[in-house]
Amino acid sequence: MSETQVKSAVKFVLGEQQIPTHWVNLMPDLPGEAPPPLHPGTKQPAGPDDLTPIFPLELIGQEVSAEAEIEIPDAVRDVLKLWRPTPLYRARRLERELDTPAHIYYKYEGNSPPGSHKPNTAVAQAYANASAGIKKLTTETGAGQWGSALAFACGLFGLECEVWMVGSSYDQKPYRRSMMETWGATVHRSPSELTASGRSQQEHPTGSLGIAISEAVEVAAQNADTNYSLGSVLNHVLLHQTIIGQEALEQMAMAGEEPDVVVACVGGGSNFGGLTFPFLRRVIRGDAGTRFIAAEPAACPTLTRGVYAYDFGDTAGLTPLMPMYTLGHDFVPPPVHAGGLRYHGDSPIVCGLVKGGMVEARAYRQNETFAAAVRFARAEGIIPAPEPAHAIRAVIEEADAAREAGEARVILFGLCGHGHFDLSAYDAYLAGRLEDPEFSQEDVQVALAGLPEAPALA
Ligand SMILES: Cc1ncc(COP(=O)(O)O)c(C=O)c1O
Repeated sequence: MSETQVKSAVKFVLGEQQIPTHWVNLMPDLPGEAPPPLHPGTKQPAGPDDLTPIFPLELIGQEVSAEAEIEIPDAVRDVLKLWRPTPLYRARRLERELDTPAHIYYKYEGNSPPGSHKPNTAVAQAYANASAGIKKLTTETGAGQWGSALAFACGLFGLECEVWMVGSSYDQKPYRRSMMETWGATVHRSPSELTASGRSQQEHPTGSLGIAISEAVEVAAQNADTNYSLGSVLNHVLLHQTIIGQEALEQMAMAGEEPDVVVACVGGGSNFGGLTFPFLRRVIRGDAGTRFIAAEPAACPTLTRGVYAYDFGDTAGLTPLMPMYTLGHDFVPPPVHAGGLRYHGDSPIVCGLVKGGMVEARAYRQNETFAAAVRFARAEGIIPAPEPAHAIRAVIEEADAAREAGEARVILFGLCGHGHFDLSAYDAYLAGRLEDPEFSQEDVQVALAGLPEAPALA
């Protein structure tokens, strides 16, 4: 692009040959030893063998890899071509609307077939399982984005797909179910009567990601030809998402700018890790001074109010214990509309970065988040999913701060999905019917009381 073109450009677009060839593994660059996951029964460090009943060896290898870069299989890159590379936008209209000297960029993942960043890992996971001879994948889904992504990916590699969808989202987003079924998946409302984990949670009819995970893991662990697939939290999932940040690095270079701050929402951490890890690696290696902000809902404030401790990834206690900020594995968040951010824990890597002060976490309430989303939609056109609307809320704060400082700060954020299936949430907001539930001090005490016995974390 010429200098004149860059000056007025709105989109920075890469060609198919620029889809990254490798995933970025941040693990070897992280300072100190990462606390290991623990076996849920023995509470001893969980080894690869503990994971084989539900994951294929290729993904287990990626989970514990010490390689800084891992090659992306050609079959996966071929599928990614359906929508990648994704565009980087300069939000010129939003900048004008906010009357800020800040330069705001967003990496848009909503043009994938399911409408979010989730297929970046769904495709990689479906391929690894199909190559290992697995016939079916089970999973949970919150807002429905992850379930749709896995349904889409399983269809491409000839796998069956069975999804437990969090009850409140199942009711709020019926067309997400239609989408999953169109791609050939079977969808159950969670808690269901089909599993012991679901039957034991019938007093929580709105469900939670923790309960839905238990249901999906239970079925995978009981069937040799079935594996489980997780849409976030685990190292290999964040690894698969790093194609986002690698493309964004190239596109920011095309724009001739260096971000001062990178912002992304966090549910389990995959969109955040995917966008930020390639940038974070440069900071760790001393090549940049970027700041990072993780945005989450005040109703499920894992990083800002959670306890840093070992906890289960699911409600029934079937998964390994992971070192993370947690609101307690039996926490059932209120049925807020940012379904994908209603998880009690977070990626251990992202939690370690927050704990170490490399990432700042901020929590926002529903109404201020939707106000930011509507402002964005009216300026830029795209209607954001409620999850990245939290990031937009943080971006507006940063843009305001840039105005007050009189500095043309460069802000990059992840617009990780569109909100076309979330319009009932927009309806509720526009009609003034959205509540603003917040996590109380009493909730913190309950979270602490429910933690499993495990070694304390430093
Ligand atoms: C659009 C979107 N963004 C963000 C998330 C949160 O997950 P993660 O933190 O893994 O990106 C979800 C989860 O379903 C989602 O659908």
